[in-house]
Amino acid sequence: MSMQTYADSRITQSIFQVVLVSFVLLGSVRLILDELKSNQSRISKLNGFRQKQAVFVTKEDQLDESCNVFEGQWVWDNVSYPLYKEESCPYLVKQTTCQRNGRPDSHYQNWRWQPNSCDLPRFNALKMLDVLRDKRVMFIGDSVQRSTFESMICMVQSVIPDNKKSFHRVPPMKIFKAEEYNVSIEYYWAPFIVESISDHATNHTVHKRLVNLDAIEKHSKSWEGVDVLVFESYVWWMHQPKINATYGDTSEVKEYNVATAYRMALETWAKWLVTKINPVKQRVFFSSMSPTHLWSWEWNPGSDGTCYDELYPIEKRSYWGTGSNQEIMKIVGDVLSRVGENVTFLNITQLSEYRKDGHTTVYGERRGKLLTKEQRADPKTYGDCIHWCLPGVPDTWNEILYAYLLNGHRNSF
Ligand SMILES: *[C@@H]1O[C@H](CO)[C@@H](O)[C@H](O)[C@H]1NC(C)=O
Ligand SMILES: *[C@@H]1O[C@H](CO)[C@@H](O)[C@H](O)[C@H]1NC(C)=O
Ligand SMILES: *[C@@H]1O[C@H](CO)[C@@H](O)[C@H](O)[C@H]1NC(C)=O
Ligand SMILES: *[C@@H]1O[C@H](CO)[C@@H](O)[C@H](O)[C@H]1NC(C)=O
Ligand SMILES: *[C@@H]1O[C@H](CO)[C@@H](O)[C@H](O)[C@H]1NC(C)=O
Ligand SMILES: *[C@@H]1O[C@H](CO)[C@@H](O)[C@H](O)[C@H]1NC(C)=O
Ligand SMILES: *[C@@H]1O[C@H](CO)[C@@H](O)[C@H](O)[C@H]1NC(C)=O
Repeated sequence: MSMQTYADSRITQSIFQVVLVSFVLLGSVRLILDELKSNQSRISKLNGFRQKQAVFVTKEDQLDESCNVFEGQWVWDNVSYPLYKEESCPYLVKQTTCQRNGRPDSHYQNWRWQPNSCDLPRFNALKMLDVLRDKRVMFIGDSVQRSTFESMICMVQSVIPDNKKSFHRVPPMKIFKAEEYNVSIEYYWAPFIVESISDHATNHTVHKRLVNLDAIEKHSKSWEGVDVLVFESYVWWMHQPKINATYGDTSEVKEYNVATAYRMALETWAKWLVTKINPVKQRVFFSSMSPTHLWSWEWNPGSDGTCYDELYPIEKRSYWGTGSNQEIMKIVGDVLSRVGENVTFLNITQLSEYRKDGHTTVYGERRGKLLTKEQRADPKTYGDCIHWCLPGVPDTWNEILYAYLLNGHRNSF
C-alpha cells in the first residue's frame, strides 16, 4: 500500500466512523424526541387541548424581506372576499354591521390588498391559531382599534366549535378565548395609550379631553407579559389643534399643541416599552393612523359631500387626504426608529387612504345608538367617516399582521 492509499483509507475509515456515530446519535435523539412528542400529545389530550402539530409555514407564507407590503393597490376580488360574513360572526357590535344597519351596497367587502412586489399569504384561521397557541394577543387603543380586534376574532372564530370559544367583557377589556388552542385575543380600551379622563370603557366624555402625558402605569400593568401587543392611537388626539394635558403635577393642566402632546405621550410609551418588554418573548406592533374621509372635495374636487355614498376606492396613486396628519406620522416614525427592531411598524395609513368607500357613514352608531331615520337623512351632519364597516378594511390590517406573525414564527417564536 502506498502512503497515499493508506492515508486515503484512514480518512475513509474515520469518515465512516463519524457517520456511524452520527447515525447512532441521531437515532437516539429521534427516539427521545418521539417519546417526548407522544408524551406531550398525551398531556395535551389529558388537558383537553387540541393536539400539538407543527405549524406548517410554507414558502408562500413567508414575506419577501425586501417587499413593502404597504405599497400596492386594491384589486376587485369577490371570490375570496369577504373573509367572513357579517351574519356569521356573533362578535360584531352594531357600530360596524353596515349591512344589517341598512347599507344598500356591499362592494366595499370585496377588495383585496395587493402589494406591488409580493403577495400577502392567504389568511388561514387554523394556522393563525396554531401560531398563537398558548399566547395572548392584545389590541390596545381606541374604537378603531376595537374594530381591528373584532375583525381578528371574526377571522378566526368560524373554525372553532361553539363550546370551545368564549367572549367576556372585563372593562376596559374584551377577551376572546379559543380553548383548545389556549389562545386569548384581547382588546384594551386606552384611546390615548397614556392615561386620560377618557379611560372608562363606556362612560367617557367625548368633548372634554384631559390627558396625563407621563402616566401609563394604570394601563401598562395589564399589558405586561402579553405575547403580542398591537398599539394604535390617533383620532382622539385630533379633536382640536390643542389639547388639555398634564405632565408631572396632575393639578397643573396646560393646553398643548396636539403634535407636542402626542410626541410626549409616545415617549412615555417608548420608555415603558424599553424597560418592561422582553423582545425575545414578546412582539410589539404599532399601527399608524387610520385615515378619516370627511370631505369629498379632497378626492373629488368641486364636490361638497363626505364619505357617504362613496362606492369605490380612490384610484389616484399615493392619494393622501387631510385626515392623516403628516406631522403625527413623522413623530411616530421618529419615536419608533429609536426603539428600532423591537417594534414592528404597521404603516396602514396609505392603503386605507384609498378606501373612502369603507366607512360606516350613516349605517353605524352615534353615542352608542343606531341613527334615527331623520339622522340618516342628513349624512353631512351624522355620517361617520372615521369608523369602518366589517367585514372591511380592518380585515386587511389583520392579514398584514398575520403575515408578520407567520414570519416571526419561523424566526423566533
Ligand atoms: C414519557 O412518559 C413516561 C411515562 O409517563 C416516562 O417514563 C418518560 O420518562 C417520559 N419521557 C420523556 C422524554 O419525558
Ligand atoms: C363578481 O364580480 C364580477 C365582475 O364584476 C361579476 O361579473 C360577478 O357577477 C360577481 N360575482 C358575484 C358572486 O357577485
Ligand atoms: C396557556 O397560555 C398561557 C399564556 O397565555 C400560559 O401561561 C399557560 O401556561 C398556557 N396553559 C397551558 C396549559 O399550556
Ligand atoms: C359617567 O362619568 C361621569 C363623570 O366621571 C359621572 O359623573 C357619571 O355619574 C358617570 N355615569 C355613569 C352612568 O356611570
Ligand atoms: C382646556 O380647559 C379649559 C378649562 O376647562 C377650557 O376652557 C379650554 O377650552 C380647554 N382647551 C381645550 C383645547 O380643550
Ligand atoms: C408610512 O407610509 C407613508 C406612505 O408611504 C409614508 O409617507 C410615511 O413616511 C410612512 N411613515 C413612516 C413613519 O415611515
Ligand atoms: C431591542 O431589545 C434588545 C433586547 O432587550 C436590546 O438589547 C436592544 O438594544 C433593543 N434595541 C433597541 C434599538 O432598543
